[in-house]
Amino acid sequence: MRKTELGSRKNVSLPRNRADRAFSTELGVLYKGDCLTILPELHDASADVVFADPPFNLGKDYGQRISDSLTRSAYLKWCAKWVAECVRVLKPGGALFIYNLPAWNVEIAHFLNQHEMQFRHWIAIDIKFGLPIQGRLYPSHYSLLYFTKGKPRFFHRPRVPIPVCRHCGKDIKDYGGHRSKLNPAGLNLSDVWADIPPVRHRTTKRRTSNELSVKLLQRVLEISSMPGDLVIDPFGGSGTTYYVAEQMHRHWVGIELGDIRPIIRRLKGEGADLAPKNLGDAGKGLSERIAGKDAKRTARQLALLN
Ligand SMILES: C[S@@+](CC[C@H](N)C(=O)[O-])C[C@H]1O[C@@H](n2cnc3c(N)ncnc32)[C@H](O)[C@@H]1O
Repeated sequence: MRKTELGSRKNVSLPRNRADRAFSTELGVLYKGDCLTILPELHDASADVVFADPPFNLGKDYGQRISDSLTRSAYLKWCAKWVAECVRVLKPGGALFIYNLPAWNVEIAHFLNQHEMQFRHWIAIDIKFGLPIQGRLYPSHYSLLYFTKGKPRFFHRPRVPIPVCRHCGKDIKDYGGHRSKLNPAGLNLSDVWADIPPVRHRTTKRRTSNELSVKLLQRVLEISSMPGDLVIDPFGGSGTTYYVAEQMHRHWVGIELGDIRPIIRRLKGEGADLAPKNLGDAGKGLSERIAGKDAKRTARQLALLN
């Protein structure tokens, strides 16, 4: 594959391989294939943001050609390869976000520290797992790593609404008597995000395996990018990153090894074509069969990781 500039899209350099290039819009291009094949075709230092939500190696069904049951060392070796590529394609000051279980992100964070990436945050995304795990604390968050390649080139700190009781509408905290001094635009966003809803509605969820909340991606892009920036996501899934990039006028490059039809349908503005049971983010990657019959096995796998 040759590396080439794409028309008038300054700073956006994309491979031309026609077989891989599955879909495009004014702002982005989707490649169907293995990110370990396609990422190396992207130029060094071309992306402002990379967001990655890989399989968690929990034995989930992502379709043919994708094993989600690797040994611990094989999974970590695989992660090291694509993470290194993500670092390479980032511009100096660009932001890298990696969403995974805490047990994996501990290792990935260590890898990033060794590769001269600058740690910014371990963001805890509050989630509810369905099942408690024997002998462990109840796992209640996914980890979103936020690193930059040196000093951040862009950072915006969003404000969030002052939390109120959903029954009486009054403030939940008293702010030590300084309520009147709070910024009316809201509170500074912290590194614990408890307001990200799971995607579990039959009318909006695109596929049986997991799909992240639009709100999560909106927040990530708000923090780390400006309109016109380039966002790369090597694990497309249902295309949440690309959908949000379109909404927020960011360029994007997407890669997905499995079924890309849900992404294309979504980007064309077509409705979801399936009606999964209430799995939500807590059911990340769970097929209905696994969620129904094998929930205990999944809990055991999580126990090994957490
Ligand atoms: C956890 S999902 C991503 C979900 C996505 N963030 C969303 O909101 O819909 C991970 C995706 O990575 C894809 N995948 C797994 N291995 C891959 C690889 N080597 N290259 C590209 N995509 C891969 C899987 O098919 C799956 O759709």
